[in-house]
Amino acid sequence: MSAKSGVFSSSIVRKVWMSLTGLFLCSFLVVHLLGNLTLLRSDAGAAEAFNAYAHFMTTFPLIKITSYLLYFSILFHAVWGIMLEIKNRKARPVAYAYNNPSANSSWASRKMSLLGTIILVFIATHMYHFWAQMHFGTIPLDASGNKDLYTVVMEFFRHPSFGIPATLLYVVSMAALAFHLHHGFQSAFQTLGVNHRKYTPIIEKVGLVFSIAIPLAFAIIPVYIFLT
Ligand code: HEM
Repeated sequence: MSAKSGVFSSSIVRKVWMSLTGLFLCSFLVVHLLGNLTLLRSDAGAAEAFNAYAHFMTTFPLIKITSYLLYFSILFHAVWGIMLEIKNRKARPVAYAYNNPSANSSWASRKMSLLGTIILVFIATHMYHFWAQMHFGTIPLDASGNKDLYTVVMEFFRHPSFGIPATLLYVVSMAALAFHLHHGFQSAFQTLGVNHRKYTPIIEKVGLVFSIAIPLAFAIIPVYIFLT
């Protein structure tokens, strides 16, 4: 009894941490998107505005501390997600041979680990190209004395040979993000105990809008840069 309840409670605790880190990462996505929308501006001040934003995000002490929490949350969410998947697979080694998974759960809910892995690979390559450049690269400065990350981003998506594959990689990764968020958003609230006749349908609708609007807006940015 106690061993069983220990296993049960530890997997619940894991799911709660997955939910909390997942919701924190959702809030990061909103802030990150708002900053990146500057990349869609075509006026003369767009580049300096984006560079000033990137400089602020890299140097302001409170945001720096939040960034460490962000890196930790990404790693934690990914590692615990993989551990949870391994544990679930061990618990039901032949389950899919007998059950009808497509009748019992959505495609996204069964593919959370695969979708999460695609997103993790995306984040790793994405941080290598932009974040590492900003933090450790030698980027020319703009007229205000900030690192000209704006030009790095523009040249990346407009690159003559890898501009197209890079843009496609971003669009495909945002599709994976959309499915991952669609299941993850409502699942997080369920795990945290929000299961209410009135509020759960609202959370599901907000989750649907969030999971479409955020990845779509992110995907538009490289496509727009590539085409203009
Ligand atoms: C598609 C449009 C996107 C563009 C143009 C973009 C651009 C950038 C740039 C320029 C940076 C470096 C800024 C800095 O270090 O101050 C950055 C950092 C980062 N990006 Fe993105 N990003 C996009 C989408 C995403 C998405 C969808 C995710 C997550 C799924 C993501 C995760 C991150 C993370 C974790 C960092 C490091 C943040 C930090 O150090 O605080 N980005 N991004």
